[in-house]
Amino acid sequence: MAFTQAPLPFDFNALEPYGMKAETFEYHYGKHHKAYVDNLNKLVEGKDLADKSLEEVIQISFKDPSLTGVFNNAAQVWNHTFFWNSLKPAGGGTPSGDLAAKINKDFGSFDKFKEEFSNAAATQFGSGWAWLIDDHGTLKVTKTPNAENPLAHGQKALLTLDVWEHAYYIDFRNARPAFIKNFLDQLVNWDFVAENLG
Ligand SMILES: [Fe+2]
Repeated sequence: MAFTQAPLPFDFNALEPYGMKAETFEYHYGKHHKAYVDNLNKLVEGKDLADKSLEEVIQISFKDPSLTGVFNNAAQVWNHTFFWNSLKPAGGGTPSGDLAAKINKDFGSFDKFKEEFSNAAATQFGSGWAWLIDDHGTLKVTKTPNAENPLAHGQKALLTLDVWEHAYYIDFRNARPAFIKNFLDQLVNWDFVAENLG
């Protein structure tokens, strides 16, 4: 069965008051993300991988150098769906409850988490992703190049920010730090992060 592109969890223009134009989603969701889905389906057509879950395809292909193309497209399908869910209109600010307590415990303070996350997102050289992960019970900030993700490393993702230039060029041009700050200030979907923490 073919892999499909999950619907965007908000309207294309829903984040316009919060720094991200509909045009960003027309390209980033409508073209970049869609292309990864289409490429993945072409690459696995007629193969056993076509019947696996997306998560299984990511884990199998990451370990097999002959499947780099499959990994790159499968992981990018998953990463982008996870990124859309990491965003919401009028998000950002601070988390609450158990999640807030866990962040304070593992990072020292929420401000310290923000500093680490911003730093990871800003210093990922070239294309990649910044993540908040649950690494076997401890929250950590990581960054990954290109399509690589926590799933490939046996870690549980809680939150992500796409720092490929295509993610911010329409709204922020070359100003990645402004894109990162805007994400933390008014877009992070802390409800999604709390659900992932479980
Ligand atoms: Fe992207």
